[in-house]
This record gives sequence, structure tokens and C-alpha cells, in this order.
Amino acid sequence: MSDRTPGASRPPGPRGFLRSTLGFQRSPLDLVGRLLSEYGDVCSLDLYPVPLIVVNHPDYIDRVLKARYHNYDRGGPVITMARNLFGDGLIMASEPRWLFQRRMLQPAFHRKRVEPFGELMTDTIAQMLDRWEQVRATDRPIDIRSEMGGLTLRIVTRVLFATDLDGADVRRFLAAVVTANRELAAFIRFPFPPLSVRTPGHRRFHDARTVVDDVTYAMIRSHRRDDSDRNSLLSMMMRAHDDVTGARLDDRQLRDEVFTMLFAGHETTAGTLAWLWHLVGRHPDVELRLREEVDRVLAGRRPTMADLARLSYTRQVIDETLRLYPPAWQSYRQAVSDDEIGGFRIRAGSTVFWSSYHLHRHRDYWDDPERFDPDRFAAASVGVHASAYIPFGAGPRVCIGNRLAMAEMQFAIAMILQRYQLVPTEHAPITPRPLLALDVSRPVTVRLRPRAGQPSSTRAPMQNFE
Ligand code: HEM
Repeated sequence: MSDRTPGASRPPGPRGFLRSTLGFQRSPLDLVGRLLSEYGDVCSLDLYPVPLIVVNHPDYIDRVLKARYHNYDRGGPVITMARNLFGDGLIMASEPRWLFQRRMLQPAFHRKRVEPFGELMTDTIAQMLDRWEQVRATDRPIDIRSEMGGLTLRIVTRVLFATDLDGADVRRFLAAVVTANRELAAFIRFPFPPLSVRTPGHRRFHDARTVVDDVTYAMIRSHRRDDSDRNSLLSMMMRAHDDVTGARLDDRQLRDEVFTMLFAGHETTAGTLAWLWHLVGRHPDVELRLREEVDRVLAGRRPTMADLARLSYTRQVIDETLRLYPPAWQSYRQAVSDDEIGGFRIRAGSTVFWSSYHLHRHRDYWDDPERFDPDRFAAASVGVHASAYIPFGAGPRVCIGNRLAMAEMQFAIAMILQRYQLVPTEHAPITPRPLLALDVSRPVTVRLRPRAGQPSSTRAPMQNFE
């Protein structure tokens, strides 16, 4: 075993420690980028009491996620903080509990089970487009980031519960999800004082979590009262059982899984769609090709799951957006026992960290990495190293919701383009804002222009989901 330790990010002593902690707090993407260009594909970022080992080579990430994944479990300070919100839901669970949970939940995400969600997603998108019609009449610009946030949160809520919450409840619930997410992200970036100390921000976090808890437990109770299969993700999770022991998830575990799906499943898709519209707004040639594909494949009808494979350019544009702006930009694992990565010693207990934002721009694996070019993902293009592109992670802990997310995004893009042209009101590039997910740093404002000859079959009746 090698005794070499990775290059350190800071001068020794408390001042150096403080400098790198504040640097990461202020601008993590810049700090990690600087470190990687100075030290190469393995280096050390000394933020917490345990060393954070940064890796940025596909082979090293492959080792952590696949070849030696048993040795790299969920753990470390960031995960401990995030458990304040997600409890022991799938995304935060560590072995051996994780394997049990994954086995229980995997069937709910099987292609056949996800298929019925297609109509529910397109209905929700159609409702948003009907509401846009009123905005368009006023010629007021809209913030596409906030629209996509509302849309994806409604979709994931409906997928989870298969029912609409009451008007007042849904507003309170959606606002609480957004607040809890924002306050937790702020805490993770600067984790002082502890959450138990009631600062105004921490109080907002606890209040918001209570609202989401109340609604979630009410939904669990109502699903338990009526035992029929509602085709909701929650009812699938309630019915899941362990083949060997027959064990099922109890209410507390269901609550943690609902929270996990709610948070993992909406900021990610919303952020991706916001970046996509920003990039497409700056590349009219891409927009033209998207529009041409949507018109050719759908001929004015509402898309179904069966159409998705033929919306291949739409898929390429999503893939390229996820390359440049991967929402799950940061990942953490804790080494269970000593290991060696890239010739450096990884001690048991240390946290291994990687940023897909930097990996997806690695010059050894991507030509002209800063350029937005969806043709990189054309079927005919030469493939990249499998682990140089991991927007949904890889190995046994790959994103369980990737199929759902892709379908949702393809539907949203196709249906929006069928009805509108989104004309940006600002053309300046947007810098990323690395919160829990990689967000845009300012609103993405557009004006809605109707498509000429837009067919009425894409419209759906307005439902009361506001
Ligand atoms: C654009 C959309 C999405 C992206 C980019 C994304 C990305 C990711 C990534 C990178 C991971 C692995 C993290 C790691 O290894 O540290 C992950 C895990 C996960 N994602 Fe997603 N995700 C998306 C949408 C969704 C949706 C829609 C859901 C559910 C409704 C979901 C639920 C989960 C869960 C539960 C895990 C944990 C899996 C496990 O540890 O076994 N995600 N996601």
C-alpha cells in the first residue's frame, strides 16, 4: 500500500483551514477547479475534521462506484447533515440497510410500473401550458426556472401520491419543500451553529420540515385506510416486501423515502430544464432542430411513452445539458477500510468526493469541453469513457429515478415547443450556483410566443391543481 498522501489544498494551521473552508463555502466550483488544475486528478481538500479526498479521473471514480463499491459507503459530515431532512431514505442509507431498501424500491421504478405515470406527467404539463396562455396574452416575461420548479414539484407530488392535495394544502406544501431545501443547502455550506440552535434560518427549516412531515404522514394514513393499489409511488412502496423475510416499510421509513423522492426528484429535473432553455435560447440552430423533430415525430399530438425513443435529438440536448450542468454535481463516499487510488493512500474513514461538473469538462475526455454541442451524443459519435459521463451516477447506487426524470424532461420540452417559442429577454451567459443541486444564479426570463398553426389536440382541460 502506498504511503503517498494527496496534495493538500491549504497551508498548514488553523488559518489555512479557515481559508479553504471559507473558499469552499463561497465558491466551491472555483476552488475545486483550481485544486484539480494544480494537483491533478487526486488531491486533498481540508474542510472538515476528516480529510476530503477529491478525485477527478474516470478510472478512480469507477473504482469507488463499481469495482470497490463495498469499500465506499454513504457517510461523512455532509451526509450526516443531510440526514436531518432525508432521514434514512434510500439516498442517504448506508450498508447493509441500503441493499434492503434498494431491493424493496427497485420494482416501483421498473419500466412497466413507470409507464402509467406518462399520462399523469403530460396532463400536468398541459395544465401549466394552459396557465401560460393567460400570461402570454399580457406579454409579461416569465421566469422559466421558477416555472420548471413548480412543474417538476407538482409532477413528483402526483407521482408519489396519485392525488391532488387541496388548493391551500398544495401551496403550503410546495412552499415548505422549497424552504426546507434552501435552508438545508445553506446549512451544509456553513454548518454553524448546529441545527438544534434556533437561529431564524434554522427555525424556518424546522417549520418547513414539519409541514412536509404532516402532509406526508396524512398521505400515508389515507393510503393505509384505502388499501387498493392507487398506482402511486407511495402505494407501490407500501406494498413492497422483502422476498425472504416478508418485511415491509413502516410509516417512518415510508416518510423518509417520500422525502427522498420529493427532494431528489424535483430540483434535479427543474434545474436541468432551466439550463436547457437557457442554452437553447443561445443556440437558435439547436432550437430549430428540436422543433423539427417534435413536429415530425408527434405531428401535433400529445406525446406518450412510446414516442420517447424517437425523440432522439431531444434526448441528445438533455444529455449535453446534463454534461455541462449536472444537477447532482457533488458526491461523497466514506472509505470503510484503507485503499489506494491513483497511487495515493486513502485511509479508512476519510471522505472521497468528486464533482461531475469538473469530470464532465475534463480535457482528456472531452473535446472543447466548454462548448454546448448536443451532437456529441449522436448515436454515430465515438463513445466516451463510460465513467467520464455520470450525471445519474453509476454502479449499484445509480439514480433510481433516471427513467422517470428523462421521460418527464422529454415530455416537457416537446409539449412546450409544440405550443410556444421561448424568446429570452436576456442573452448574457449564466453562471452556475452550486446549492444541493447545481442551479442557475439568476432568473431565466423569457417571453412566450405562440407557434403558428398550433393544434388544439395538445391542449388539456384545466384542472384544479393550483
Ligand atoms: C435530472 C434528474 C436527476 C438527476 C441528474 C439525478 C442524479 C442522481 C445521482 C447522480 C445519483 C447518485 C448520487 C451518488 O452516487 O452519490 C442519484 C441517486 C438517486 N436519485 Fe436521482 N437524479 C435525478 C432525478 C431523480 C428522480 C426523478 C428521482 C425519484 C423520483 C430520483 C431519486 C434518486 C434516489 C432515490 C437516489 C439514491 C439511489 C441509491 O442510493 O440507491 N432522482 N440521482
